[in-house]
Amino acid sequence: MEIIIQPTVEEMSKTAARVVARVLNTKPNAVLGLATGSTPLGLYQELVRMHREDGLDFSQVTTFNLDEYVGLKKNHPQSYHYFMHENLFKHINIPKENIHIPMGTTDNYAAFCQWYEQRIVQCGGIDLQVLGIGADGHIAFNEPASSLGSRTRIKTLARQTIDDNARFFSKPEEVPIYAITMGVGTIMEAQKIILLANGTKKAAAVAAAIEGPVTGMITASALQLHRDVMFIVDQEAAADLKMREYYQWIQAKMPDAP
Ligand code: GLP
Repeated sequence: MEIIIQPTVEEMSKTAARVVARVLNTKPNAVLGLATGSTPLGLYQELVRMHREDGLDFSQVTTFNLDEYVGLKKNHPQSYHYFMHENLFKHINIPKENIHIPMGTTDNYAAFCQWYEQRIVQCGGIDLQVLGIGADGHIAFNEPASSLGSRTRIKTLARQTIDDNARFFSKPEEVPIYAITMGVGTIMEAQKIILLANGTKKAAAVAAAIEGPVTGMITASALQLHRDVMFIVDQEAAADLKMREYYQWIQAKMPDAP
């Protein structure tokens, strides 16, 4: 695992954007796995800036979002469809037909989940997956006690996730209880993964994911088994890491490494 500790959330976002740009420059038709939440907002802003100012091209890019709330229509302001459109897609040149986000309203969720998995494979698999992390250590909506081999499916949200996300809704009762989410197994098949985290609220989850045991109770800990994963965190989110100085030492020595 590569652990990059940046002084600020802005630097965290810029580092992540550079990783995305590098993938797109090497493979213009890359498949990106994308996340929602407040954490990747700065990354998306930076990608929009790179598109406008440096000509970063998304015309051949395909995307798959991690998750969506069950029951929210695409135009609901708290749906992840709406979030992605407002914060990224409407500002870049990605063809509409290349965008995939789990459908929050469908007659047959099981068939949809199966189709989503097949579609990822048909598109050649995910080249780069962007992740955030929940305060309980979840990735996407893979709540504690998720199977580490899980695939795209419906999950019941944990109380903490519902409470954390209530800030985006006018009333806590409005937060959906179910979500469609890529599984841990789905995420683990991405060629490369970057996980972003900022703020003190994420410090315990980041430490458990990187330095704790691999466990379905902290689904981000499964990333320890991935061969190409980079954690990009700010100082606050890195605060509980026991080996923090070592990671910073590696980072400082990186330019001279053989
Ligand atoms: C939700 C999303 C996750 C995200 C998490 C953290 O649970 N499903 O993908 O990582 O929120 O959100 P935030 O970045 O707002 O802290």
